[in-house]
Amino acid sequence: MPKESMAEQLLAWYDRHRRVLPWRAKAGETADPYRVWLSEIMLQQTTVAAVGPYFASFLARWPSVEALAAAPLDDVLTAWAGLGYYARARNLHKCAQAVAARGGDFPSDEAGLLELPGIGAYTAAAIAAIAFDQRAAVMDGNVERVVARLYRVQSALPAAKPELRALADSLTPDQRPGDYAQAVMDLGATICTPRKPRCALCPWREACAAFKAGDAEDYPRKTPK
Ligand code: ADE
Repeated sequence: MPKESMAEQLLAWYDRHRRVLPWRAKAGETADPYRVWLSEIMLQQTTVAAVGPYFASFLARWPSVEALAAAPLDDVLTAWAGLGYYARARNLHKCAQAVAARGGDFPSDEAGLLELPGIGAYTAAAIAAIAFDQRAAVMDGNVERVVARLYRVQSALPAAKPELRALADSLTPDQRPGDYAQAVMDLGATICTPRKPRCALCPWREACAAFKAGDAEDYPRKTPK
């Protein structure tokens, strides 16, 4: 199946099944970079369900990046308590101050975002795609799993990462790249799950090599520890 048709199919599925999440814009609206950034930092190593209440209380208390930048670090660390990985909270505050110092606007491309404290490759791509609708391949564990199954990638993680990234990049469309990034995340979180994937409901079933072979659960291959 041509890659453009695959992206279209996934976007059509997303339009019907997109998860309503507190940091997401409504369909057709663009997301607020501050909300996207805050949610992506919180979602590193923490589940969507656990992040929900923290995201709401941070936004209520610090509605803008400038407000967060002006908060005492101790207040931010206290509000973060329970989310774990406190380096994330320290970097969050440092990053808010860096953005406030440049006038309160986040950079709109990956290269600019990467220069900010606490923003690595994943987060830069996620913000560029979701908040600025830029064509960026957002790689996380979900996306790696989806792509590894789709193409039945035989090399094992972590060595397979560059190959998976190249495949993910080639699938990313020019149209609606932000929705596409979130659609792949949703697909990995709700359909293409690590155990017992729900292939019968998958919009990419017809294109999926592992579905055809009946061994989706065996991917991504992993190097034994
Ligand atoms: N996990 C990490 N980022 C996410 C997002 N933007 N939507 C859903 N799940 C996510």
